[in-house]
Amino acid sequence: MIGIFDSGIGGLTVVRAIMDQLPGYDMIYFGDTARTPYGTKSSRTVIDYALENTEFLIQQGAKIIIMACNTASSVAFEALQQKFDLPIFEVITPAVELALKTTRKSAIGVIGTRATVNSGIYEKKINARNPDVRVHSAACPLLVPLVEEGWLKKPETRMIVKKYLHPLKVRQIDTLILGCTHYPVLKPIIQEKIGKRVQVISSSTAVADQVRGFLASSPEIEAQLSKNSESRFYVSDLTPQFEKTARFVIRQPIRLQNVSK
Ligand code: DGL
Repeated sequence: MIGIFDSGIGGLTVVRAIMDQLPGYDMIYFGDTARTPYGTKSSRTVIDYALENTEFLIQQGAKIIIMACNTASSVAFEALQQKFDLPIFEVITPAVELALKTTRKSAIGVIGTRATVNSGIYEKKINARNPDVRVHSAACPLLVPLVEEGWLKKPETRMIVKKYLHPLKVRQIDTLILGCTHYPVLKPIIQEKIGKRVQVISSSTAVADQVRGFLASSPEIEAQLSKNSESRFYVSDLTPQFEKTARFVIRQPIRLQNVSK
């Protein structure tokens, strides 16, 4: 099984992308809804949560792990790699690679949680590959609660997105990375507010693409993954609102199971 975790419901955008790019593969998802958001917490805490989440997914039979959370990816990837002996994917590197291929004016914008933006991980990774690329980042802390609340088309959401994107717009970026797995569900509003000339890149589809490439070139790992189109979805706290948002994000009916950890 492919194990996927996020701080909450947003990581289901990665599940959706895996379903689209690797149909039939069984997945096990864990959304840490009891402890969400991660984006406002310290690195130490996020690392501890990421280690626990990974352990849970491995106990449930995961053979590869996708950290479907930019916040966890930006601070906990090394800790996970040191502790666990199975392939682990983070969402930042694939989005960076796609953005570098896409930009024509060497001007890339990044939006994410405060923790992701403060970590400076996107700037570091982009400039390590190409020091001439200008990177402009903006933390958008209100977007995760808006998505979790299902406020996807409200005028208030449009106004907040516009305000967050304004500083990036004036810097004339031509590529924008959605550096948070919650944001793809707001993509239509983000695209409208940043302008149609800007290419919007989702870390969720970028990581699904990377996993597809990895499995194609690693038959011994691929053979360990079951393919019965059966997925299980666990959360650490369950409310009707989470179920409603989950169904919207993944665009199909799913059953969330509460697991206390
Ligand atoms: N979905 C997580 C991310 O990609 C963020 C949500 C949170 O702050 O917990 O960064």
